[in-house]
Amino acid sequence: MKILIVGSGGREHAIAASAAKSDRTEKIYCAPGNAGIGQIAECVPIGAMEFDKLTAFAKEKEIDLVIVGMDDPLVGGLVDEMEAAGIRTFGPRKNAAILEGSKAFSKDLMKKYHIPTAAYENFDNAQAAMDYLEKAKFPIVLKADGLALGKGVLICGDLEEAKAGVKSIMLDKQFGTAGNKLVIEEFMTGREVSVLSFVDGKTIKTMTSAQDHKRALDGDKGLNTGGMGTFSPSPFYTAEVDAFCREHIFQPTVDAMAAEGREFKGIIFFGLMLTEDGPKVLEYNARFGDPEAQVVLPRMENDMIEVMEACIDGKLEQVELRFEDNAAVCVVLASEGYPVSYEKGYVIRGLENFDGREGYYCFHAGTKRTEEGIVTNGGRVLGVTAKGSDLKEARANAYRATEWVEFENKYMRHDIGKAIDEA
Ligand code: AMP
Ligand code: GLY
Repeated sequence: MKILIVGSGGREHAIAASAAKSDRTEKIYCAPGNAGIGQIAECVPIGAMEFDKLTAFAKEKEIDLVIVGMDDPLVGGLVDEMEAAGIRTFGPRKNAAILEGSKAFSKDLMKKYHIPTAAYENFDNAQAAMDYLEKAKFPIVLKADGLALGKGVLICGDLEEAKAGVKSIMLDKQFGTAGNKLVIEEFMTGREVSVLSFVDGKTIKTMTSAQDHKRALDGDKGLNTGGMGTFSPSPFYTAEVDAFCREHIFQPTVDAMAAEGREFKGIIFFGLMLTEDGPKVLEYNARFGDPEAQVVLPRMENDMIEVMEACIDGKLEQVELRFEDNAAVCVVLASEGYPVSYEKGYVIRGLENFDGREGYYCFHAGTKRTEEGIVTNGGRVLGVTAKGSDLKEARANAYRATEWVEFENKYMRHDIGKAIDEA
């Protein structure tokens, strides 16, 4: 099969690595890809939002399967366009990707179908939001409705901060049109867990659990980022929690989407909080997480392409997902200053140290090939993943492997997976 992956981050590198392992794969293209993906796929310089060019390319190369990794093209309807051009595509159509594309939609869906989540109100008017805040309890959570690179959530400690937040999201449009609507949500406390799943419209099969570290600095301080590291599985995601989520969250979400005429095929990523009152949904994503994919996919024993095809064909029920009985940790190597401002273009040394090392992966995120070699080209540069027989071993292995690569500006958190010591 000829495969086209759409995206350019560490997640897409992990997807490409899994696709490369499949017996069914003859050739992989990636648009636009990055330097690491370029070692296993042919990168084509087409942006993820250039739908006409992407469909034309897929037709010209007679692509058998398109895999859309990123949220923007999914929410924008790339799957619909590919299908209209007769190209098999893995991912939700536009009317289903709204599960991620509109937080107001997903909150209303959860309310209508009694799926546990934080109490909330939706607003499309800043004054009404300000009035509501006058009587609210703090801290409180503000969420821009649309996609905002994972940065559209503000946790506000008092009324003043919350009003400033409403102003920046709804009036100053800090996140552009994503802030046309606003969700104001009850603040919850508890451990966060990510559960990714394959969905074929009616059947859902969950993957092993993971946990992200969203803040930039050690000790969960600093600004929210796209994700500074992950570990899998989460020791806090117990059999009891799993049983509850299956009954009250996972299947009900798939059924709710079908009942709304928005059949969901692809990946649903459940961002969960394990609260004192039980697990609740923090957010849905319509794609693999980044960097969750970098710890989940390397542990998957199934042929990923076969599972994706089963989703497209509505045959997921026949698939049994299997994961290795081990653990993985991913530490993101970023450019100092991320997520605010940082320099790019530094040569990365030592990438070859990963060659032939079983159980170690260096997934590229922001990298670029130049005449001088592979250079840094983004805030998140690399995701270093290592496996181990348990989380402690995986963490020690991952941190050891972070020393194998060097670039000026290299920055990482030193406490990825530290929470497992408390488990
Ligand atoms: P989201 O993009 O909705 O996952 O939000 C980003 C992060 O904000 C989450 O991973 C949580 O750490 C935090 N967050 C979101 N909603 C809430 C909430 N209702 N209560 C507490 N923290 C939240
Ligand atoms: N790591 C969180 C996300 O991909 O949204």
